[in-house]
Amino acid sequence: MISPVKILVVFGTRPEAIKLFPVVAALRADPCFVPVVCVSAQHRQMLDQVLEIAGIVPDHDLDLMRPDQSLDTLTAALLTELGKVMDTEQPDRVMVQGDTATAMSGAIAAYYRKIPVDHVEAGLRSGNIYHPWPEEVNRKIIGAIASLHFAPTEVSAAALLAENVPANRVHVTGNTVIDALLWVTERNREAPQRVSGLAELEQRFAGKRIIGVTSHRRENFGDGMEAIAAAIRQIAARDDVAVIFPVHLNPNVRAVMHSVLGDLPNVALIEPLDYPHFAHLLSLATIMLTDSGGVQEEAPALGKPVLVMRETTERPEGVTAGTARLVGTDAARIVTELFTLLDDKAAYESMARAHNPFGDGQSARRIVELIADEIGRKA
Ligand code: UD1
Ligand code: UDP
Repeated sequence: MISPVKILVVFGTRPEAIKLFPVVAALRADPCFVPVVCVSAQHRQMLDQVLEIAGIVPDHDLDLMRPDQSLDTLTAALLTELGKVMDTEQPDRVMVQGDTATAMSGAIAAYYRKIPVDHVEAGLRSGNIYHPWPEEVNRKIIGAIASLHFAPTEVSAAALLAENVPANRVHVTGNTVIDALLWVTERNREAPQRVSGLAELEQRFAGKRIIGVTSHRRENFGDGMEAIAAAIRQIAARDDVAVIFPVHLNPNVRAVMHSVLGDLPNVALIEPLDYPHFAHLLSLATIMLTDSGGVQEEAPALGKPVLVMRETTERPEGVTAGTARLVGTDAARIVTELFTLLDDKAAYESMARAHNPFGDGQSARRIVELIADEIGRKA
């Protein structure tokens, strides 16, 4: 009997955990593989929220998060500590997702040991190395190293081919975030009491249109965050809306949001929601206002118009489908675009149509089958 292949699955932040838990489950279900989970814990509380819901107990937890960590100290620690885990585990393959510091360092540490890398959510490109920063360069580095590139869409696959990645290394799989979203949405439907944590706000804001907000991009720190906060303050001046804003734990986000928005009765600045509650917020919201990557993928799947507070996006599929619109970080523009959606029924309805350009919920299964093909050991 051939021995199963050991895959070290490396992640560290909330969105990586959300997008990898379906893949970990699919690897566990396939006798070809022995998945070993290593979390850097680049995020702590926000990562743990997902691990708990997904029922993942990591085999290695590096516990690397430090308050207000810098990119260089974080990356140095990641590279050293992930390398040690690889030396101990001697995996056959390493899997990383997306474009965080953890993903980039995991790919480099694997490359230094000549271990093949599987890249989930490959090929996203904005074409601007400062938007988003530092993610655009992180994913290009992973793209230079990866053995298998799992592109969520044809657009991301084409970006890899344009960078001369051989076509037989690139596979369009859909984005695993849709697997996660469909799973959690069904779980919420089966047991609505699980998301009762928002009931008090639902009651307080009954009759108002809910604007769901998230924001955390490093390139928006400073002026960008101030402008986003100013825009939300103006939006909240209307008494027909209420804002529910689970505030990211990054201190650069919290300081601005709490000082500018902390006193408004129809703005709820709340702690990061666990994934089931956030999915519930998506369902309650009339409009999402965000600079997040994942939310740009989830909102179209639920037919929620999403205004993206960025200058560029590596996820143009939502814009093409008509559910997402780039509005930048100019306060006046954000307010104008949002009021148009609130006041112009036709404009709202043209965006509020469910599209699923990012996947069909079967991405994790496809990825695991493709790796099994690669190693020549179909279960
Ligand atoms: C990171 C990723 C970004 C991703 C985002 C998702 C990098 C460089 N950035 O950005 O690509 O889009 O996660 O949210 O990899 N903090 C806590 N508790 C937590 C999480 C964060 O207190 O659970 C605070 C800490 O002070 C920490 C800071 O937030 O130092 C920044 O965390 P970090 O992971 O460096 O950056 P993010 O801005 O979260
Ligand atoms: N999310 C969550 N709780 C929150 C805010 C977001 O579970 O309070 C989820 C959201 O559904 C999405 C992911 O976190 O799947 C996005 O994470 P984030 O915006 O931090 O990172 P990005 O996607 O921009 O890398």
